[in-house]
Amino acid sequence: MRMTPDHRVYIAGHRGLVGSALLRSLQQRGYRHIITRTHAELDLTDAPAVNAFFATEQPGFVLLAAAKVGGILANHTYPADFLRENLLIQTNVIEASRRSGVQRLLFLGSSCIYPKLCPQPMREEYLLTGPLEPTNRPYALAKIAGVEMCWACNRQFGTRYLAAMPTNLYGPGDSFDLQNSHVLPALLRKADTARRNGDPTMTVWGSGTPRRELLHSDDLADACLFLLETDDAVFDSLLPTDAPPLINIGTGEDLSIRELAELAARVTGFPGDLVFDASKPDGTPRKLMDVSRLRALGWQPRIPLEEGVRAVYEAAKDQLAQFWATARTPSDSN
Ligand SMILES: NC(=O)c1ccc[n+]([C@@H]2O[C@H](COP(=O)([O-])OP(=O)(O)OC[C@H]3O[C@@H](n4cnc5c(N)ncnc54)[C@H](OP(=O)(O)O)[C@@H]3O)[C@@H](O)[C@H]2O)c1
Repeated sequence: MRMTPDHRVYIAGHRGLVGSALLRSLQQRGYRHIITRTHAELDLTDAPAVNAFFATEQPGFVLLAAAKVGGILANHTYPADFLRENLLIQTNVIEASRRSGVQRLLFLGSSCIYPKLCPQPMREEYLLTGPLEPTNRPYALAKIAGVEMCWACNRQFGTRYLAAMPTNLYGPGDSFDLQNSHVLPALLRKADTARRNGDPTMTVWGSGTPRRELLHSDDLADACLFLLETDDAVFDSLLPTDAPPLINIGTGEDLSIRELAELAARVTGFPGDLVFDASKPDGTPRKLMDVSRLRALGWQPRIPLEEGVRAVYEAAKDQLAQFWATARTPSDSN
């Protein structure tokens, strides 16, 4: 059964970057029965609490966007927490969904499930074809177990659970915290700080040559709802019995860190020069999703990168001004 505005829809993790975008999209489309719980109200690692919640609320559709998420440092410092909490969250939600007869579930993963040296662009078939990136291996393994769980439930119980793998995301509510931020917020904060300081240059870590793909969280949410709102025949074609029920979500286009830094400078109004510190690590040379499976269904992103980045910067300006005023940001670190 396809999802419609009359159905009861549960968003797990509705205050996160992804979950908040899903909430906005559902509200804009006129969904009348959106079910949410904060982490404090419902700890998804608590199986009895999750089962009781599903038994009471009886959602028909589930968007599983709750996860313990973090940067390299957090993944390195708390590997056991990343593995355990993500396994528990997804297992509890998937199992409670099965028990309570949820129609369709969308499990959000990440491109880190693909091998470290994955051919580019990364196709869904490349799952488990090579070793993972060691820095977030526990997190990636938990997510791979989630994909496997969706697939196993579909085969054993006839459920309709799909795993969506988004590329790097940006959007409203993204973190500008220097310890934990993604590449785009880090560059925006750096360029904003350099402009306010009147610095002649802004230093960017690495050579500037690695390429990254970026998708606005509102476009991701649109793709997720597009998938849950498709007809059964189309949705079921994404759930083969002989391959994981997996679909990449991205733009299919990437740009270099240099181009991204130039965009950050343009958007923040930083007039100075960019300096690339090639003594700092570059990370993976390229991370680009193959999105032909999603494209073939007729979906494509709507928000042009520069427009999306400008909107994110405008919304975060006060926060960035405050960071600058409290002088917590050295302008020469990523
Ligand atoms: N951001 C990206 O660039 C990106 C890219 C690709 C894929 N994804 C995927 O999208 C999903 C969501 O990511 P995100 O960026 O939206 O993360 P996020 O902003 O950190 O949000 C995660 C949400 O999950 C909630 N949560 C965590 N542990 C919980 C628990 N035990 N019980 C209940 N709620 C819990 C968090 O609540 P609290 O904050 O209150 O703990 C938060 O609302 C993840 O699976 C991630 O892999 C993200």
